Amino acid sequence: MPLFPLMTLEHLSHFRCVNTGQTWPAAEALAQDRWLNERFGLDGILSLEYDLERVAADWKRSPLASRSWALGHWRYRELLPLSGKVEPPPLSVGSTPLVESPRLAESVGLSRLWIKDDGRNPTASLKDRPSSVAVVKALEMGASSIACASTGNAASSLAGFAAAAGLKATIFVPKRAPAPKIAQLLVFGARVLRVNADYDRTWALCQEVCGKRGWYNRNCAVNPYLVEGKKTCGLEIAEQMSWTSECPDWVVGSVGDGCSLAAIGKGLREMTDLGVLPRMPRLLGTQASGADPVTRAWKSDAENVPSLAGATTIADSICVGRPANGLRCLQAVRDANGAMISVEDEATLDAMKLMGRLCGIFGEPAASNALAGLIEARAQGVIGPNETAVVVVSGNGLKDISSAAAAVGQPIDIEPTAEAISFT
Ligand SMILES: Cc1ncc(COP(=O)(O)O)c(C=O)c1O
Repeated sequence: MPLFPLMTLEHLSHFRCVNTGQTWPAAEALAQDRWLNERFGLDGILSLEYDLERVAADWKRSPLASRSWALGHWRYRELLPLSGKVEPPPLSVGSTPLVESPRLAESVGLSRLWIKDDGRNPTASLKDRPSSVAVVKALEMGASSIACASTGNAASSLAGFAAAAGLKATIFVPKRAPAPKIAQLLVFGARVLRVNADYDRTWALCQEVCGKRGWYNRNCAVNPYLVEGKKTCGLEIAEQMSWTSECPDWVVGSVGDGCSLAAIGKGLREMTDLGVLPRMPRLLGTQASGADPVTRAWKSDAENVPSLAGATTIADSICVGRPANGLRCLQAVRDANGAMISVEDEATLDAMKLMGRLCGIFGEPAASNALAGLIEARAQGVIGPNETAVVVVSGNGLKDISSAAAAVGQPIDIEPTAEAISFT
């Protein structure tokens, strides 16, 4: 039976402001219009909380194990904020592999190590999870247009899912957006507005126009539903680990705006509270040394995440100086007794090669940064040799060929003769 008609909002219990902790009953919050955090006059984003007793009771009647893995992340219908009134676009999202790699574990110096390969999503990044939820939410609300400001994976996943759902996508890109990423957006039929300004001004313009035109705003900094899509990566890790009867000591993910790791932590926490995992794994957040405001805040025990001028790293997807969800990420890492760590770009490129050569998995720089951070955490003794870890590969390496080329060098040029090959 198709799952979507079975979706309901009845498992939502309340909405909570992550900055102040103030809560609103779900029924009251849902009765407000679409821009919930703005409606409540909040600076911080809202977190959606579920009635987990009710979820557990429903999982008893309809166990997760009986639901096809091919349904993707919609399998977790009780933990998603969707009404079931509209069908999701026909692109398979989630249900990505969790691959154990004994050789990589040995090389890194860990007892066991798994890769969560989210580069296998339809537009090749974890961002397909939130974009798919945003598109369904936009359809539920009767929007015909959806927009975001981005040059990276959020934009390409939104463009792809909007195309599959028949929604008009408008993407605001800053003047210096790279050409290959713009090409991907245009292939998916998005209206691409190249703004004669930097990213911050472009983002503000997108906010203003969404407000004026009534376009659905796919932006994790203001839209509380997107985290719910991202968290399904954590839900899946928990369920897949439960099949191995192991619980990872650490789950590792890279941090830009901070929303993805916080969301993965939320998913893991919900699965721990539901008894799928015996204990909450610790979170290791990784950043590039040239763009690491969250690591700095974590190290100095700060209450807030500082802004960092002139952020720079080859890992473009995590090149963020003013993280939109930095505080939420910091809270998630602290709540999970975790740690933040930064690494040089060179270490990220080395990690990209190592993962490619030992696992056959190609991560973009932002994804390889997570493995580099894990290696650094082992070197610093933050993680011990008898521990286990899951590394989230959040985007496929084919998204950024120039960084990969810098990491691996050139092929061997030869003449078309067998004699030209001198090695065995
Ligand atoms: C591949 C990849 N990894 C990691 C991240 C970091 O996610 P966040 O910005 O939510 O911290 C992003 C964000 O764009 C990304 O595209």
